Amino acid sequence: MADDLMQKVISLCKRRGFVFPGSEIYGGLGGTWDYGPTGALLKKNLKDLWWKEMVQLRDDIVGVDAAILMNPTTWEASGHVKSFAEPLVECKICHERFSADKPDSIKEHEESHKGKKVEWTQPKQFNILVKTYLGVIEDQKKPVYLRGEITAGVHVNFKNVVDSTRIKIPFGIAQIGKAFRNEITPGNFTFRSREFEQMEVQFYIKPEESEGKKWFTYWKKNRMDWYLSIGMKKENLRFRDHEDNERAHYAKMATDIEYKAPWGWSEFMGIHHRGDWDLKRHSEYSGEDMSYKDQATNESFIPWDIETSAGVDRSLLFLLIDSYTEEKERIYLKLDPKIAPYKVAVFPLLGNKPELTKKARGIYEKLKPNFMTAWDDRGNIGKRYFAQDEIGTPYCVTIDYQSLEDETVTIRERDSKKQERITVADLIKKLKKLNDQN
Ligand code: GAP
Repeated sequence: MADDLMQKVISLCKRRGFVFPGSEIYGGLGGTWDYGPTGALLKKNLKDLWWKEMVQLRDDIVGVDAAILMNPTTWEASGHVKSFAEPLVECKICHERFSADKPDSIKEHEESHKGKKVEWTQPKQFNILVKTYLGVIEDQKKPVYLRGEITAGVHVNFKNVVDSTRIKIPFGIAQIGKAFRNEITPGNFTFRSREFEQMEVQFYIKPEESEGKKWFTYWKKNRMDWYLSIGMKKENLRFRDHEDNERAHYAKMATDIEYKAPWGWSEFMGIHHRGDWDLKRHSEYSGEDMSYKDQATNESFIPWDIETSAGVDRSLLFLLIDSYTEEKERIYLKLDPKIAPYKVAVFPLLGNKPELTKKARGIYEKLKPNFMTAWDDRGNIGKRYFAQDEIGTPYCVTIDYQSLEDETVTIRERDSKKQERITVADLIKKLKKLNDQN
């Protein structure tokens, strides 16, 4: 049943242009995915909503967009060169490697050798940072890493941001961008990829236990509320605190927000109390003083950091699973209009009647500058409705012969399938209301 739902979502993603396997015509590349026309819109809406909430509407957070490639010492300072590793075992028959922490994959692999006794090497630590080379002369190229998390680009700019803005502690720095990990076993569609995107805020506070607890609790609630506000079902979300032995090397406290995925509860964002780990280490490794001077008290200190780190791709995957709905004769995505790729679709009732097409085209052109608007004049009207339902378009507008006479159109709402007749002026008002909620 769970596999079934996953297969249906994957198939819809391909069929309707949300997600395609990366470089598919060459046989793909494990752990990479390409977003198609609808997927790219959905992803942009998610990131725009996040940015608006975090940066535009708040006085205490500013945004940056740092480089993916960084001086390699960054990753020694952040601890990733030493600690960003997974235990790996190798099958002695075919030399394929698996994460020692994934007994299910190991068992499945053993079964693939049909009756042969499979032996494994002892677990060895394998660093998942992705290495590449920069430079123009082949044998003098320097190794650098594609960032394993987007976080370091924020911390190394801490001083630059403080010196170039009027921001005062407590304050945050937000960023959205790609991260890369050489995951041993990518899988569950986009859930575990080798290239993915993150949306993070590093929130700097005074180094005091009470402040740490206060802001950690604040961000937990803030993030859960946000996911509920973009339409995720409450019963499919939960917090999970990390045990002492599973926290990342930088974290004093960590809680995940998990989704009830078809394969079990799974993390898609984390709230981490990183203490002074990053700024202290970057001070040590760069020789730059990363302390903050409180102008009111004249105190200098290395701030603590409460981080919220969300996966864009995982959030998107869970939004798709959460909104996937089947009825007797149709499939639809019950996406919050805020997040839906298209806000409205416009159809002439019949695609082969120039007078209807002309009128419909005029309305389409009027809507287009204000809303992401779809156009469809092929096939029968029922099929056009269902095609929009499958990509989650909240409203479909049909132009018929009456529209030519009285400037009214039929508007159909996705979830209820209810249709009403309204004037073109009211249509724009109705859709604007949708936009204002964003
Ligand atoms: N800066 C903290 C950090 O990177 P993380 O828990 O390793 O923490 C944060 O990652 C989020 O990034 C995860 O909750 C997940 O949504 C996303 N993420 C991590 N690894 C991923 C992968 N291999 N594929 C897709 N998303 C991933």
